[in-house]
Amino acid sequence: METEELLKSLEEEANLAIDNASQVQEVNEAKAQFLGKKSKLNALMATMRDLSAEGRKELGEKINSFKTALENKVREKIQALEDAKINAMLASQEIDVTLPGKQIMDGNLHPLTKIYSEIEEICSSMGFKVADGPEVECDLYNFEMLNLPKGHPAREMQDSYYITENMLLRTQTSPVQIRTLLAAKGEPVKIICPGKVYRRDNDDATHSHQFMQCEGLVVGPNVTMADLKGTLQTIFRKLFGEDVKVRFRPSFFPFTEPSVEVDFSCFKCHGEGCPLCKQNGWIEVLGAGMVHPNVLKMAGYDPEKMQGFAFGIGIERIAMLKYGIDDIRNFYNDDVRFLKQF
Ligand code: PHE
Repeated sequence: METEELLKSLEEEANLAIDNASQVQEVNEAKAQFLGKKSKLNALMATMRDLSAEGRKELGEKINSFKTALENKVREKIQALEDAKINAMLASQEIDVTLPGKQIMDGNLHPLTKIYSEIEEICSSMGFKVADGPEVECDLYNFEMLNLPKGHPAREMQDSYYITENMLLRTQTSPVQIRTLLAAKGEPVKIICPGKVYRRDNDDATHSHQFMQCEGLVVGPNVTMADLKGTLQTIFRKLFGEDVKVRFRPSFFPFTEPSVEVDFSCFKCHGEGCPLCKQNGWIEVLGAGMVHPNVLKMAGYDPEKMQGFAFGIGIERIAMLKYGIDDIRNFYNDDVRFLKQF
């Protein structure tokens, strides 16, 4: 066969093989077949040494252009196959942006968290710091240093969960008063402390063996009962409305003297009397008082130089009043239908 014809037929054959290849591997095989060591082209090249210089040059040029053309074709084909592969992959992964998204359930704060966050915010604006204390507390802080020595009859009011003889689940947030005073070493303090407390109680609509309190403590020179009243009035006006009034009734707590029960005027009927306030016009919400001199002394303060007030707010009670909840157990049942409402 004429060299020219041979090259032509090789070219046709090679083009066909490459055109028909559907995989990169097939293209590479065709390349090896037509340009490799064992190819017909190589055999053709071997005949060159028998040619004249002129003939060698001519054939050499033809072979070179055949090679270049074939190499280009191979490169283009491989590129095309790879593009096609990527496009097919993209098409198979196509996202339909018009499809509706998956509904993610969004949560909300627990009503108790909401109430104490609100109290925290109000008190922070008045310069209170937020303190913290453990729920497993020692008898010394939970009772003794709060002026309730072992055997004191007032301990009976807070039947407790003891863990060892001297450790118990705190029955009130008041031990944080002691912890704060001891840490402040005679300096003035102004703190609130929200947290869980535990009492051995029969659970019913208004009692729970575990509930939340928010303690407040202010100690410094010239702190008076008027400061206590003003502070509580500010808190309750922010929580329940600007026309709310605060009333003190004498009471007893071993760690405060004088001690008071604090009522605020009913925010529903504004003091007229309604079912919420049991026709009283007033709602009882917390215990408070001036820090007992014995407590100050035990914590290393001189009651002649510094005085203080303390209060303990029941968070559940505030939440029940504010949101109209009639059973305290709702707070702890984790029923989303209930919790979603706040
Ligand atoms: N700790 C008291 C209680 O649990 C409340 C209280 C706190 C009273 C601070 C006076 C001062 O009942």
